[in-house]
Amino acid sequence: MPTPTDPATETEPLYWEEQSHAYVITGYDLAASVLRDNSLWSSDPGNVLGAGLRSSTPYLRSAIVLRDPPDHTRMRSRMAPAFSSRVVERLRPRVAAIVDTALDGLESGDEADIIADISTVVPPSVIAELFDIGVDGALLILEQSPRLVRWMELRPTPADIQSTIDAEAALAAFLTPILQARRTEPGDDFLSALVAAEGLSIDEVLTTCFIILAAGGESTGKLIGNATLAILREPEQIPALLADPARAVEELLRMQGTSKRLIRIAPEDRKIAGHVVPKGHIVYIDVLAANQDLRRAADADRMDLSREPLGHITMGVGPHYCLGAGLARVIASETLERLFTRFPKMRLLDPDPQWKPSTTFRALRALPVSLRG
Ligand code: HEM
Repeated sequence: MPTPTDPATETEPLYWEEQSHAYVITGYDLAASVLRDNSLWSSDPGNVLGAGLRSSTPYLRSAIVLRDPPDHTRMRSRMAPAFSSRVVERLRPRVAAIVDTALDGLESGDEADIIADISTVVPPSVIAELFDIGVDGALLILEQSPRLVRWMELRPTPADIQSTIDAEAALAAFLTPILQARRTEPGDDFLSALVAAEGLSIDEVLTTCFIILAAGGESTGKLIGNATLAILREPEQIPALLADPARAVEELLRMQGTSKRLIRIAPEDRKIAGHVVPKGHIVYIDVLAANQDLRRAADADRMDLSREPLGHITMGVGPHYCLGAGLARVIASETLERLFTRFPKMRLLDPDPQWKPSTTFRALRALPVSLRG
């Protein structure tokens, strides 16, 4: 068992957290080095702690993000071509149209809730477009996506797990016949590319759809909420957002990311910054702390939307680097640019909105705003 050590100091890139009985990495370089090497650090609780811990849901438990080589390498090489930049750029005009429709819906009122009206609507609608599954598919995705992520809590309750299992069943019933049809008669679309990939079963493609909805759509929506709050707290940064939305989104990803912690497991006893993590034990990576590590820049803890990007680990590093990073960036930049162009005088109605209780996500419950100042 690891023993408690000194708490975090400015010189230590990690600290011991008694409550979770695990080390928490806060230094940027240490975090990046652990994430980069999936031969030293495992993402798969089943591989090191016994399959029982990985058996909570029929599909998501086998998602690529929880796999190690050789399975991970095989799945990633088959999946990656479907996420090409051509696919993302082809979607950009549709993303813009989806955002505009959502913003049109706000025009008749003076107030809005950015979470209910934008965050929970735009990314799932874009993913429905990516999947090309029509209005019924979009409505199902909007309804089921929030339930798919409940399993991702660090210590999910039986109710969380059941909610995810029910969402998986509802989505699988809808998507399976569509995937089978695209296998027989492929089109020029994302799901056809996935089902055509040699060596991916229909169940693995379904699992991929679910991780896209759970980790992708939900994270992007939450980022839009966090980013809007941060910008409205510092409205003097709006011109920088509008001058270069892509650059601003990098800084917003760095400072307003949505995952609190990433997890890795020691497949053998591993030494880390002079401390031993015994075989089978978890290390947590504190994403926000690593992104704001002052050893990288004296003002790394300050949000500056016009800065030369500092780099971040919000979308992972190395072999598990986010496959949807390009799409997430397009959705976030199109949404934030259009929102602040349409409503330049928007202001917060609640200066201190409530955060959702979650061990995994940093996300707002609601973000009420006055649209016209
Ligand atoms: C702001 C939005 C997003 C954030 C912050 C985010 C973050 C991440 C992170 C941190 C990882 C790596 C996890 C790890 O190393 O343990 C990851 C992996 C992944 N993400 Fe994203 N993501 C976002 C959006 C998306 C979108 C929109 C999609 C799909 C369209 C997507 C699909 C994936 C997939 C498939 C993986 C697994 C890659 C692998 O294991 O090799 N993500 N994401």
